[in-house]
Amino acid sequence: MSGITTIKSFTAEDYEVSRLALESEAYRRSNAKAIRLSTAYIPLIMMLILVGFTALLFFGSLAAINGKITVVKYRVLVFLIQRLLSPLTRLGDTFDQYQRAMPSTNRVINLLDTPITIEPGSVPLCCQQVRGEVKFQDVNLVYPGRPPLIKNLSLVIPAGKTIAIVGSTGFSKSTLVKLLLQFYELQAGKIILNGFDIPKLRL
Ligand SMILES: Nc1ncnc2c1ncn2[C@@H]1O[C@H](COP(=O)(O)OP(=O)(O)O)[C@@H](O)[C@H]1O
Ligand SMILES: [Mg+2]
Repeated sequence: MSGITTIKSFTAEDYEVSRLALESEAYRRSNAKAIRLSTAYIPLIMMLILVGFTALLFFGSLAAINGKITVVKYRVLVFLIQRLLSPLTRLGDTFDQYQRAMPSTNRVINLLDTPITIEPGSVPLCCQQVRGEVKFQDVNLVYPGRPPLIKNLSLVIPAGKTIAIVGSTGFSKSTLVKLLLQFYELQAGKIILNGFDIPKLRL
């Protein structure tokens, strides 16, 4: 939904529909697998409880009748088992939730662990020292597998000035800002922010 402008601009509706269908199918299949697991575990736990409870009732009452344990002790055992029932059934639910949460957690962790390919610099830029002058010097940029996008661009934006960059779509306006933010590495040239070559600055 958030990419709908992009999808429509590139008339990629058919491609996106088939991609979504594929992803949904994969989701449906793994969800079915999760349900299969939980439907196997919960009744299993219930059965174990039932067997244990019945065994206790049977052998406990026998022992009480034969005078091996007192009726009071037997009564306490029955009471304890009843107290244990609900936590045990909840254990099955917890296990199910854990299984479902793990893949999401792994995805988040993988994203956080993505290494930054750009070597960060060590110079900190404190708010107090910032004047704001931006200089592009003979900047070149080629996206992998694309024709060169920016060729020998030089530009000085004095501190405190507001400038406008005008051009048609795909003209590299956004790319200029991304370069300044070090989203991409420069192949040639320099971008100087406040007197520092940006690769020297701490990200
Ligand atoms: N990450 C990228 N990889 C490859 N090509 C890109 C990438 N980002 C932008 N481009 C291409 O670079 C050109 C300039 O894009 P962009 O800076 O977004 O233009 P503008 O903001 O001026 O519309 C476009 O042709 C676009 O397809
Ligand atoms: Mg743009």
